[in-house]
Amino acid sequence: MLNTLNAIFAKHRHQPGALLPILHDIQHELGYVPDLAVPEIAKELNLSRAEVHGVLTYYHHFRQSPPGKHVVHVCCAEACQANGSEALANHAATRLLSGDIKMEPVYCLGLCSIGPAIQIDELKLHARVTPEKFDKLMQELEVRS
Ligand code: FES
Repeated sequence: MLNTLNAIFAKHRHQPGALLPILHDIQHELGYVPDLAVPEIAKELNLSRAEVHGVLTYYHHFRQSPPGKHVVHVCCAEACQANGSEALANHAATRLLSGDIKMEPVYCLGLCSIGPAIQIDELKLHARVTPEKFDKLMQELEVRS
């Protein structure tokens, strides 16, 4: 992990406001931002651990634990809430009991008028997702795994 961090630090060493790009790169490389990375980032950027942790936890995008084999983002922003995303998220939480597929909230996927919206593995977007449609998509995902 340290080699990965050092390569990322070297890439951003002279960049103003490097904290977010560094966090993005770490998550891209490792799948999440491990707790052990926080003091290393703080040291590199001459910030306190609390400052790094504060930014890390402020943005829902950053994971602090390894992702599942598949990640399903369920939009929880207002327009999707108005179209039933809360019920969909509750359904997804009960449906995704296996460790291979994890659900994470996201705040707008750009499909606001045709929500509730989800995104699978940061690739494919799906609109007007009902619990039944969600189950069908998860079955397809499990078959492909
Ligand atoms: S509010 Fe859900 S896609 Fe925009």
